[in-house]
Amino acid sequence: MRELRPTDLPELTDVLRQCGAFTETEVICALELLDIVLKDPAQSDYRVAVAEENQDVQGYVLFGPVPLTEGNYMIYWIAVAPQGQGRGIGRRLLAHVEAEATADRARLICLETSSQGSYERTRNFYMQAGYHLESRIADFYRAGDDRLTYVKRFTCREEV
Ligand SMILES: CC(C)(COP(=O)(O)OP(=O)(O)OC[C@H]1O[C@@H](n2cnc3c(N)ncnc32)[C@H](O)[C@@H]1OP(=O)(O)O)[C@@H](O)C(=O)NCCC(=O)NCCS
Repeated sequence: MRELRPTDLPELTDVLRQCGAFTETEVICALELLDIVLKDPAQSDYRVAVAEENQDVQGYVLFGPVPLTEGNYMIYWIAVAPQGQGRGIGRRLLAHVEAEATADRARLICLETSSQGSYERTRNFYMQAGYHLESRIADFYRAGDDRLTYVKRFTCREEV
């Protein structure tokens, strides 16, 4: 797990296009967020961890503290290359986010995903990792495609 470098962009573009989940518009949006992280070192809304194996980029996660909240983190994007999927890389990316967020006294981590059948494996992945479905907005993305919000809650040190 390491920080994002400008030279990662071609490989991350391939990961996003090939991972089987995103439309071209979504890929462009994901790349815009990576661009913000690379070009604006002063921003603190987004952080990226890149998973690398044998000098090959296998995936990444983009996350950060939710503006105007206390102790609330959001995972905005996660993707693993198709040849890397099912080998624990996604789980390690989530563990990295959780370690960073809880070190910053996060109370909860949220993420949003789609209700479409093609996201069933992704939903299982989140549930296996301890994220619970807490809200659903019907027809959010398009008719018949709901927005699901999954949440994992942590106990703050002073509440123990
Ligand atoms: C979702 C994603 C990030 C998961 O990463 P991954 O590296 O494949 O996941 P892992 O190998 O760490 O798997 C962790 C758990 O996910 C689940 N999982 C993994 N592969 C699975 C499969 N083929 N079928 C069902 N569940 C699976 C299992 O619960 C697994 O736990 P296990 O290892 O005990 O079986 C990855 O599959 C991906 O990039 N998908 C496309 C992009 C995407 O959907 N992003 C999220 C948009 S909201």
